[in-house]
Amino acid sequence: MLLRKRDGGLLNEKDWLELFSGFESGEVPDYQLAALLMAIYFRGLNLEETIDLTRAMVKSGDVLDLTAVPGFKVDKHSTGGVGDKTTLVLAPLLAAYGLPVVKLAGRALGHTGGTLDKLQSIPGVRVDLSEEEIVEQAKAIGLVVAGQSERLVPADRKLYALRDVTGTVESLPLIAASVMSKKVAGGADGIVIDVKMGSGGFCPTLETAEKLAEFMVAIGKELDRKLVVRISRMEQPLGQAVGNTLEMAEAIRTLQNEGPDDLKQLVLTLAGDLCLMAEPEKPREQVTAELEELLRNGSALQKLEELVAYQGGDPEMVRNPEKLPRAKVKLAVTLMEDGWLQHLDAAAVGRVAMRLGAGRKVKEDVIDPTVGVILWRKAGDEIHRGEPVATIHAASLEQAMQAKQELEQLFRLGPRPIGQEKTPLVDERIWRSF
Ligand code: URA
Repeated sequence: MLLRKRDGGLLNEKDWLELFSGFESGEVPDYQLAALLMAIYFRGLNLEETIDLTRAMVKSGDVLDLTAVPGFKVDKHSTGGVGDKTTLVLAPLLAAYGLPVVKLAGRALGHTGGTLDKLQSIPGVRVDLSEEEIVEQAKAIGLVVAGQSERLVPADRKLYALRDVTGTVESLPLIAASVMSKKVAGGADGIVIDVKMGSGGFCPTLETAEKLAEFMVAIGKELDRKLVVRISRMEQPLGQAVGNTLEMAEAIRTLQNEGPDDLKQLVLTLAGDLCLMAEPEKPREQVTAELEELLRNGSALQKLEELVAYQGGDPEMVRNPEKLPRAKVKLAVTLMEDGWLQHLDAAAVGRVAMRLGAGRKVKEDVIDPTVGVILWRKAGDEIHRGEPVATIHAASLEQAMQAKQELEQLFRLGPRPIGQEKTPLVDERIWRSF
């Protein structure tokens, strides 16, 4: 199999199933699988091979059975980003709309954040739910955000761990199969995938993001899943907050209809796509108006309170997020010149937050939920010398000073605006599998 791919040949589902069982039994060592991944990185997989890989990955474990949960069950996935707290707003909003959400989320790794860490910035919240608990909670409150059990797509865990240490994460077919296998195994009726384009995600260019979207909908079609893929920009962080507690607080503000515009716009678009999958006859404007009303009248926030209470946290923290634990040191970042912010590199901001302790360089790192950065100015904004452009939340003054120096370098100013406002955050095109 390895030699075949090295020489440009094709792989099929049977190859993968044999490989996974050989890996499981110890017959196939890590280094052979790692070499195969590198061969795939360079040679690629065509669409049929990627579909075969996805099928084999799903078959490597269990599929979550949500048939006992009434209604059109929905799920959402983002290919990863910086400041991306979309799920924490979108999931309660959709549950308030009446669509049950079972979201199996991930942890922070590298410069990208993870929904589970953000949710667990509320002390006491459990995310290691059993399949029975997930189904029970989905039936009771229509909303679950939990970690993926060991039994769901175990092949992805093994492949991802090896990809992570062999420089092969950024292979489009491997990303498509990894994401789609988990979505298929997650058991939802309708899925929306937010492909991030820009330095903060895995697709640096529009072209790669389009290719990934095409791969995913083709897999969705073949594996009979209702799927919409959107492309959204991740050249700079989403919203203002980067860091777990800070992002949770921003998600809560957004659920109170007071969050940043970019985050709200993304949430309404992706949530709207899922509502229209469930009710295709409704006009989109009506769906958007109904979703906005659920933010305004407190119903969406109420759903997050229910989720936190159900999963063992204190819902009071949702009602009063100022009670969430906060970092010891706060330090403002100011610039010495006037100008227009041209660019604020998402991945670089993510790395600053990670070094403060908000993320993990390696999977075993322990994070500090309280630390991170609030960005008061974003690309396209005018900046006056001496005014705060960001606030650093750190565990020590030394770390805060280091982050300040790093952030100052990232605010790249120019003499005039960049016209960023002309480029929409979410691409208007919709890729769908149905
Ligand atoms: N997210 C995933 O779940 N898998 C990938 O390979 C990349 C992003």
